[in-house]
Amino acid sequence: MIKPLNFLVSAGPTREHIDPVRFITNASSGKMGFMVAEAALAAGHQVKIVTGPVTLEYPEKAEVIETITAMDMHAAIMTNFPECDVLVMTAAVCDYRPTKTSINKIHKSDETFILRLEKNPDILLSVRRLEKNQTIIGFAAETNDVIISARRKLEKKRMDMIVANEVGGKEYGFAVEHIKATLLFKNGENRELGRCRKKDIAEIIVKEAIKFQESSR
Ligand code: PMT
Repeated sequence: MIKPLNFLVSAGPTREHIDPVRFITNASSGKMGFMVAEAALAAGHQVKIVTGPVTLEYPEKAEVIETITAMDMHAAIMTNFPECDVLVMTAAVCDYRPTKTSINKIHKSDETFILRLEKNPDILLSVRRLEKNQTIIGFAAETNDVIISARRKLEKKRMDMIVANEVGGKEYGFAVEHIKATLLFKNGENRELGRCRKKDIAEIIVKEAIKFQESSR
């Protein structure tokens, strides 16, 4: 029996403000991340969730850290990563943010509105600097070349496992109960799971994380 592990789970979208009332975001609801948190709690582990803006009920036994922007989420993960055993990044972090956020609401004019964006830091690449035997699991939401793109991300960000999932339809993906997933492992193995419940995938992720932790001891 492995001792209870510390899971750090990111969930939901980030919001990148243009002005106080407008922002760039994506369709993540936080469901996938919260289900991973629930599965880890149910298996007797400790869980911290770093969440973007979501409307879900928080799991009672988890510590929840609320964030809005990718920069906030980056800071919260960096602060909490050293104490975790397992990081599961389900969050759909916005890759870009406006170069300027207006303090006041921007009023309409007759001109074309050009929005300049700059890159947000990549959280998974950043945590690598602090890594001490943690298990790192990520996600890749893709509309095409799902496996090739996900494998590229796994290698670039040096994850232990990535959950490649197809998005773009109504049956699975963002904000619904199902996901169409393939697990890609760092040893080159791919395990196709097809369309399944996020709840079931969450349990599989927790089991795989425990196996990684056991094999690293
Ligand atoms: O929240 P739900 O509605 O349940 O939807 C679940 C989901 C579709 C959001 C989830 O299953 C999912 O796929 N999340 C990852 C979304 C994505 O496409 O990530 P990415 O390809 O941009 O990034 C790859 C990995 O790097 C992810 O683990 C991501 O959290 C991480 N990342 C991304 C950008 C960034 N700046 N820093 C990161 O660490």
